[in-house]
Amino acid sequence: MNDKYHLALKTAFASEYAFALKAQNFHWNVEGASFPQLHALFEKIYEEVYGSIDTFAEQLRALQLYTPASLQKFSMLTRVEDENNENLPDGQMVQELLEDSEKMANIFRITFDMAESAGDHGLSNFLADRQDAHKKHSWMLRSTLK
Ligand SMILES: [Fe+2]
Repeated sequence: MNDKYHLALKTAFASEYAFALKAQNFHWNVEGASFPQLHALFEKIYEEVYGSIDTFAEQLRALQLYTPASLQKFSMLTRVEDENNENLPDGQMVQELLEDSEKMANIFRITFDMAESAGDHGLSNFLADRQDAHKKHSWMLRSTLK
């Protein structure tokens, strides 16, 4: 259980970092008539997510886990795949980030349950907040597509 739980936490951390990077990628590279709105929306999202990264890393350290902290480790662990096409159409950027945000909410739903079972209630509170944050990001991205 512990190995599975600890790997799930590292996977969630690497995925969250990859998610923030993708939102920043889209902030930098978005083009089109909706540029001002999407440039700002992607910024709001990556700033919120990056704002949680240090606390997340330190939560892992408090469990005596080492924090994955290299691009190679991130790419080995992440469930959020890189987007290498810098000129993706803007609507596809929103769609892709929405799917990734929903994936992150699900990852945090699962890791929350694991943290609760392990009695790590401080961590589970944090993971619940991350699930909530991704539900909000998903709502904003979904609403942009209508
Ligand atoms: Fe910027």
